[in-house]
Amino acid sequence: TFGVTIHSTGRYVPDNEVYNETLTHWMETSDEWIRKRTGIRKRHLSKGEDTSDLCIRASQAALANQKVDASQIGLVIVATMTPDSQSPSVASKVQAAIKAENAVAFDLSAACSGFIYGLSAAEKMLRHMACPYALVIGGEVMSKTLNWSDRKTSVLFGDGAGAVLLKREVGTEAFIAEDLHTDGEKGSALVSGEQEVANPVCARDDKNGYLTMDGRAIFNFVTKSIPKSITQAVEKGSTDLEEVDFFLLHQANARIIEIVAKKLGRPLSKFPMNIENYGNTSAASLPILLDESIENGTIRLGSGQKIVLSAFGGGLTWGTLLIKI
Ligand code: ACO
Repeated sequence: TFGVTIHSTGRYVPDNEVYNETLTHWMETSDEWIRKRTGIRKRHLSKGEDTSDLCIRASQAALANQKVDASQIGLVIVATMTPDSQSPSVASKVQAAIKAENAVAFDLSAACSGFIYGLSAAEKMLRHMACPYALVIGGEVMSKTLNWSDRKTSVLFGDGAGAVLLKREVGTEAFIAEDLHTDGEKGSALVSGEQEVANPVCARDDKNGYLTMDGRAIFNFVTKSIPKSITQAVEKGSTDLEEVDFFLLHQANARIIEIVAKKLGRPLSKFPMNIENYGNTSAASLPILLDESIENGTIRLGSGQKIVLSAFGGGLTWGTLLIKI
């Protein structure tokens, strides 16, 4: 029988690094506040590259890692909450740039959980497609949706993209179990990219599109629901928490990760982190972390290590995948 595995990964972030110190010239904040509350030291901010530019570079990196013919790719999913445009999708632009002429391409909107949702969808679709490869990308230019005079949100986010190439093959299976959720009732806790309804029969309203977030509410929701989601995915996969080699969590806040580790009773050394260097890159955070963890040898493709991928964000959305890498 066919299984789906993770074949290769790649990432790309804009060159331009912005340290907390620089933000103190733009708004009333401090390096100490940002580091203590979030663990962030710097982030990469685009100097004009849009989400598709980042996603194309991350995809090219994932493809360059293996000699895969792009015509063998049947599916391109881009998880993003900051697309270049509503149409064409970012995924269509990636499909064109990498010349994946046989691929179906579309964007998926699930905020910071987008990469988890995207992997879950791609893994299932790939089992029924003619081509053996699927590309799942998380990419964001969060900086264009931030209100740079709102210190409560603008210090938290960064720009970047990460890509994962999935392969369908006989005899191996990476996807062991999943636990995905949405709670639309709490959607107002994180809003971004609202568009005005303005037309000849309707006056303009005051929507500005900026990202707004009730940080406290999300913090409380996440520290309750993520330990539960991880526990459930691991149980569904007939695995013990002790057997999980690494827990890769959405990089939104180092304190959240510390609390989750504590609640699960697992050492923090099992939770790779890079929020220091990137801030919260939303849907890009997990594929960037996965690619870095593979590059530095923490995670080894084909090793059989058990890995938890878990994310949460706007929607509200959250979820966990248990994979054998
Ligand atoms: N610099 C200095 N002071 C600040 C800053 C800043 N950048 N931001 C806020 N403050 C001040 C506030 O004004 C407040 O001051 P006050 O007490 O005088 O009113 C004080 O610091 C505390 O503010 P809180 O908002 O209560 O700080 P908190 O400890 O809750 O930390 C944070 C805020 C970091 C946002 C936290 O709540 C958090 O991480 N929440 C989770 C966010 C998250 O995970 N989002 C993920 C989803 S993202 C997505 O889907 C795209």
